[in-house]
Amino acid sequence: MVKRLVTIERHILEKEREYPGATGTFTGLLYDMALSAKLIHRETSRAGLLDILGAVGTVNSSGEVQQKLDVFADQMIYKMNDHTGRLCAMASEERESIIDIPPHFDTGKYVLLYDPLDGSSNIDSNVSIGTIFAIHKKVTSGVRGTMEDLLQPGNRLVAAGYVVYSVSTMMVYSTGQGVHGFTLDPSLGEFLLSHENIRIPDKPHYYSANLGNLSHWTPGVRRYAEWLGGYHGNPNPLSLRYIGSMVADFHRNLLHGGVFFYPGDLRKPDKPYGKLRLLFEAQAVAFLAEQAGGAASDGIGRILDIQPTTLHQRVPLFVGNRELVEAAEGFIREYDQAWIEAYAPYRQAVVT
Ligand code: AHG
Ligand code: MN
Ligand code: MN
Repeated sequence: MVKRLVTIERHILEKEREYPGATGTFTGLLYDMALSAKLIHRETSRAGLLDILGAVGTVNSSGEVQQKLDVFADQMIYKMNDHTGRLCAMASEERESIIDIPPHFDTGKYVLLYDPLDGSSNIDSNVSIGTIFAIHKKVTSGVRGTMEDLLQPGNRLVAAGYVVYSVSTMMVYSTGQGVHGFTLDPSLGEFLLSHENIRIPDKPHYYSANLGNLSHWTPGVRRYAEWLGGYHGNPNPLSLRYIGSMVADFHRNLLHGGVFFYPGDLRKPDKPYGKLRLLFEAQAVAFLAEQAGGAASDGIGRILDIQPTTLHQRVPLFVGNRELVEAAEGFIREYDQAWIEAYAPYRQAVVT
């Protein structure tokens, strides 16, 4: 018997039909992301063949060396979205400031924030990488988008998702009605629904963090890591898995249960917030985790309630099963007062 095949386009359309008055703009926007993902997949899957590996020599806005595929992916997503009339502005991890829609194209009512290639240090060793995207509704009244439209707390997201380029290429997204996963069938060139309504399993299996940073972590985070591994009376130790591409680590933990964390530390007292970016990385996975029944915190409170102040703002991140995220907050509350005070000026919680 032939099974019912649901392409990502059909799925998005069917979901949108549930909203009376929907115009199709949103459907088009997600479909453009899926198409960008296919083009990036095509490039990443041939990376070893095409002499496109290695750094291009330029440095991105956070001072990291850009890989060629970073640049390709950044331009691909930009080009797929600059002329559609669906967006009023964009922002990319690879670019310093707001990306305006060119003046000769129409603008729309959404903004798109994206990390074109996540885990790019893994490219030249053929390890999983990803793309992350987040979509907010425009909140200002002018024709063009502004920073105010980009700097919105995650609790206002209208959609977010990621693509993981791995054994298979998958796109996972949520519009606030659960989390749905699609696997690319390369022979068809279509993303097919393979994981409907993903829920993080109640029983977690993995913890994921760069334990090479252990000596830099605060006492509470160190103790938390030990607890996850079975010390301090934890009767349910977890296995360690760490890929070093957040998308891939998050995806595995979403399917099997667990926690991924990249904490802040006190190595540089003026930078107590860790490595990951609030707008390009943390908001999207926090939104997806919550939609799948999990949680995400900066160690103090909910990631989605943090009011961004700058585009490339960094944030500590603990994401996965709710009880594991809450345990991190508990250890930090108990042992990390000095860090909490150092980090407080960088954190603006939304008053809800
Ligand atoms: P990006 O490639 O977009 O700069 O992100 C890399 C991030 C994230 O994917 C990963 O979890 C983390 O950096 C790994 O950092 P470490 O190498 O410090 O563990
Ligand atoms: Mn990244
Ligand atoms: Mn990146």
